[in-house]
Amino acid sequence: MKLIKKIFGGKQERQCEEDLDLSKLPIHIAIIMDGNGRWAKRNRLPRNLGHHEGAQTLKRIVRYCNQIGIKYLTVYAFSTENWKRPIEEIEGLMKILREFLANADRELSKQNIRINILGDTSALSKDIQDDIIRIEKLTSKNNGLSFTIALNYGSRMEIINAIKKLCVDYKKGNIDLEQIDENLFSKYLYTNNIPDPDLLIRTSSEYRISNFLLWQIAYTELYFNDVLWPDFNQKHLNKAICSYQKRYRRFGGV
Ligand code: FPP
Repeated sequence: MKLIKKIFGGKQERQCEEDLDLSKLPIHIAIIMDGNGRWAKRNRLPRNLGHHEGAQTLKRIVRYCNQIGIKYLTVYAFSTENWKRPIEEIEGLMKILREFLANADRELSKQNIRINILGDTSALSKDIQDDIIRIEKLTSKNNGLSFTIALNYGSRMEIINAIKKLCVDYKKGNIDLEQIDENLFSKYLYTNNIPDPDLLIRTSSEYRISNFLLWQIAYTELYFNDVLWPDFNQKHLNKAICSYQKRYRRFGGV
């Protein structure tokens, strides 16, 4: 109880202090962080300042998830479709990513957080690729929150790539046709070793999945709210987790 009190200080969180069951937390939370652009517009700021503010929100949410004992957090930071955005916006996002990775040792690794990147990183610039390798190695032994950032990620592309790798193994005679099942197929995805998300949150009143973890969310509980990502805070996350805890997951059974 003392721990819960320490985690939920403020008045607004009182309700969730009562409602949230820390012994029944979702193991894996995935988030589509949407609404940075609209937040910037609302505040008469350039779009990239919306992304910058979104990155600050992300750091707070990562730390909070680690604090309350969430095991896995996966966020959608840049999709394969985001290359269609204006070049200034893409460069702004890459700058934010560079800063995020550069400060990750100080801000996240020290808190025992493990960082992984998911997606086709070969399309990113060399310095970013090097920093990804550095930060994944540096945090690989941390056993707190496992924090995954989806970068240049698209679920359909991930599935096609998995099929190609599986076909190569089949052609080489490494696997038989009878061996192919959901479990084996999952091992060919980027998310091999990560359990499927229990809860997927999308902010900013958009009710789409946008090519995020399509295979992995087959039985995930979905939660949408109207908060623009830069405004998303612990209270909103508690609300989403409370909603999840009230649901009865049947996984196709009765
Ligand atoms: C969607 O909002 C958000 C993104 C495409 C980028 C998400 C990126 C961050 C939160 C920055 C921090 C993360 C890292 C690790 C670099 P939108 O721009 O589509 O918003 P809109 O729908 O209101 O225009």
